[in-house]
Amino acid sequence: MKLSHCRIIDLPKIADPRGNLTFIEGGRHVPFDIQRVYYLYDTPGGAERGGHAHKALHQLIVAMSGSFDVILDDGTGKKRYHLNRSYFGLYVCPMIWRELDNFSSGAVCLVLASNLYDESDYYRDYQEYLKALRQVSGGAPL
Ligand code: TYD
Repeated sequence: MKLSHCRIIDLPKIADPRGNLTFIEGGRHVPFDIQRVYYLYDTPGGAERGGHAHKALHQLIVAMSGSFDVILDDGTGKKRYHLNRSYFGLYVCPMIWRELDNFSSGAVCLVLASNLYDESDYYRDYQEYLKALRQVSGGAPL
């Protein structure tokens, strides 16, 4: 699972003078079935979140309101995404280290996830994460 598997997904947007509407269907707009939804909000200025990778979880991250940055890292490279539209979602595949920062005031970060919360699915230590990547790649240099 590489950075190149992660991408911005354009979500449907129904424009209307009364306001826009966006919808997300599991298996159609996102490449997984949605089992869980959570959101980050009331994030204080300067806060950083994330700082972990998931073994098997697929996620879609959407800036529902305001903006923030997501930094993705696959052990060989990093990419920073600035999310500021509620009709763009960032798909994050398993085994990607992610950090979130640069939250604007009033930012709401919505996350759709392919599984229920499971602490054993996390790598919370970056060195352990790199070690696991090396094991997956059969010891080849990352
Ligand atoms: P975590 O995923 O570690 O978020 P971050 O890396 O941004 O700090 O979650 C923070 C805490 O919330 C952690 O104790 C686990 C708990 N949590 C749940 O109980 N259920 C969930 O669905 C999520 C995402 C987190």
